[in-house]
Amino acid sequence: MTAPVLQVDNLKKHFPVDSGLRSSKEIVHAVDGVSFSIAPGEVLGLVGESGSGKSTVGKCILRLLEPTAGTITLQGTDITRLPRRRVRPLRRKMHMVFQDPYSSLNPRMPIGRIVGEPLRMHNLVDGSQLERRVSELLEMVALRPELRHRYPHELSGGQRQRVAIARALSVQPPLLIADEPVSALDVSVQASILNLLKDLQAELGFSCLFVAHDLSTVEFLCDRVAVMYLGKIVEMAPRKELFVHPKHPYTQALLSAVPVPDAKAQRHRQRIVLTGDIPSPVAPPTGCSFHTRCPVVQERNRIEEPQLREISGQGHHLVACHLVGPNGEAPDITRETSHAQ
Ligand SMILES: Nc1ncnc2c1ncn2[C@@H]1O[C@H](COP(=O)(O)OP(=O)(O)O)[C@@H](O)[C@H]1O
Ligand SMILES: [Mg+2]
Repeated sequence: MTAPVLQVDNLKKHFPVDSGLRSSKEIVHAVDGVSFSIAPGEVLGLVGESGSGKSTVGKCILRLLEPTAGTITLQGTDITRLPRRRVRPLRRKMHMVFQDPYSSLNPRMPIGRIVGEPLRMHNLVDGSQLERRVSELLEMVALRPELRHRYPHELSGGQRQRVAIARALSVQPPLLIADEPVSALDVSVQASILNLLKDLQAELGFSCLFVAHDLSTVEFLCDRVAVMYLGKIVEMAPRKELFVHPKHPYTQALLSAVPVPDAKAQRHRQRIVLTGDIPSPVAPPTGCSFHTRCPVVQERNRIEEPQLREISGQGHHLVACHLVGPNGEAPDITRETSHAQ
């Protein structure tokens, strides 16, 4: 087996927050023991509702946040506790594309400079080459070369995200972290950006952690999918396996909201509506953290925390649920839930 590009082991990020009372500090368990790896050229989707800790995972990997516990290994090197001055060179190895391209691009810089900045920062090209390389990068993301003289506010949302992608890929990093790169865009341009990312990934072969809050975008782009709930991964499997045989009640609920292209199949589908909000990460529920919303909850789930374990014979399918049998027998939550069509 080839060595992974990225390995994350038992990552935790807890934020102390002031509760307002002088002596008590509350702790937000934003990420609470997450482990996964990404192989060379692999795209791993990280999916979960807003607040489940996805962005915090990405920021810890990039060392924009200091992890509370766990290890992050990039191409065989433990980068978890590198001193600040050694973090900068890491930007050659991994780059991020953020949800909102407007706030992630420097408004005072013309596009050409924004795209070329990582190349300059790492001294990868000299002056004359830089111009040419920036033109190539703009072309790579299908932007007209004249746009290099424009400023971010003069571009559309989709164009700005293309600039962010060109900038992130300028140093040819082995790992791209894309944090909901299309969520802030008009629906009409979302598909074109996803297509661009898919084409570039196929062409350049970088590994990618692709963060999304809904499963439909990850189905298009990802080789494998990890589902996050309240700071933990509750299920992880190759894409097809996850979409065809979801095991965890939470994954089943998320999947029921994904539209299927076939209208007849859509009519027969039950949309499972979870009741209640995602609980506060300041005081996560005991036992299985999903138990407060689980339609098939049993007593054991309220007390004992399920561990992420591999189901035998199902090809790297991992799930954290007491109700899933050793051979992957899954609870059918559609029978237990009141549903909307
Ligand atoms: N700097 C911070 N200080 C305190 N709490 C934070 C901070 N950043 C994120 N959180 C909290 O951590 C949890 C996970 O946030 P986030 O990683 O942004 O989730 P997601 O990206 O899945 O929406 C949320 O409850 C959020 O409010
Ligand atoms: Mg986020």
